[in-house]
Amino acid sequence: MRALLVDRTAPAGIRLGEAPDPLPGPHEALVRVVATSLNQGEVKHGVSAAPDGAVLGWDAAGVVERAAADGSGPAAGTPVVTLGADGAWAELRAVDTDLLGAVQPSADLGAISTIPVAATSALLALRRTGPLLGRRILITGATGGVGRYAVQLARQSGAYVIASTGDPDTHGEELRTLGAHEVIAAPARLAGPVDAVLDMVGGEQLVQSYDKLTENGTLVALGHSAGEPEHFPYGALFGDQGRHNRAIVSFFLLSSPDLTPALTWLADQVTAGTLNPGISWRGSWNESAEAVTAMLEGRLHGKAVLDIT
Ligand SMILES: NC(=O)c1ccc[n+]([C@@H]2O[C@H](COP(=O)([O-])OP(=O)(O)OC[C@H]3O[C@@H](n4cnc5c(N)ncnc54)[C@H](OP(=O)(O)O)[C@@H]3O)[C@@H](O)[C@H]2O)c1
Repeated sequence: MRALLVDRTAPAGIRLGEAPDPLPGPHEALVRVVATSLNQGEVKHGVSAAPDGAVLGWDAAGVVERAAADGSGPAAGTPVVTLGADGAWAELRAVDTDLLGAVQPSADLGAISTIPVAATSALLALRRTGPLLGRRILITGATGGVGRYAVQLARQSGAYVIASTGDPDTHGEELRTLGAHEVIAAPARLAGPVDAVLDMVGGEQLVQSYDKLTENGTLVALGHSAGEPEHFPYGALFGDQGRHNRAIVSFFLLSSPDLTPALTWLADQVTAGTLNPGISWRGSWNESAEAVTAMLEGRLHGKAVLDIT
């Protein structure tokens, strides 16, 4: 099969080449991939850590070529959305049927390929904050793949949504269209307290966000885009002055059991048009170096979709 292979001599560290077809285990379906989307983690850290020749990629949408031997998952011919630790940047992928959701035949599989990491992380992390109806939530890194889904899902959950981006002049209107009530330049600019935070940035933004949490509030530390450590000033973790019982919880998508219901529901929302996939770059996988470079240079602000042409 053809696949995007790690190759440090190639532009952006990947090139199209040949790789052996995957051999599915008993609980895995073989999927013919139609589109894949890129994520910051695999592009920034995965490519530099993997050996040359490796086939990376977490997100893929396609059609089941061969159903799992143990009878789990959908039948051959079913369009699906899939998540895995690697193997998405290829024509064929073997995928655990607990990490796969069925998709309606009318769906745009390019749009659907944005779901596995970005939308599923946003959905499950929002659940960690507890009910959002009538509550205030701050979402940092809101212009990114996860952030755009999080803004929409939080708004649909009935929250008052505050989106943070380093460039509100450029992205403010777009974020408001997605559902943000307010757009701010940094958590430190926030006027009032919030009940919940979904933090995609880490570093100073996490520290500033924690400072805005109200009593019993929860901050979900989902991402680390800033690549900086978190330094809390003395007293920041005191529970006095009505700020008792604030929590920071970590999050890791791939440790979640059975993602099929979440993937299927999210795919239905994107297909129905009630969730915008936030695509900021789309093209053939022949042009993957352009998308990877844009992502590494911080120019994407949304999802990059590669069509497996
Ligand atoms: N824990 C998990 O299981 C899990 C799952 C999914 C993603 N993640 C992590 O969550 C984070 C967000 O993922 P994503 O896919 O949404 O990433 P993304 O599309 O690259 O978006 C990240 C956003 O963070 C903001 N940002 C602020 N400072 C930044 C910096 N120094 N470098 C880059 N971006 C910066 C940018 O928005 P502005 O420029 O508008 O401020 C950018 O749009 C990443 O760290 C990713 O690895 C973790």
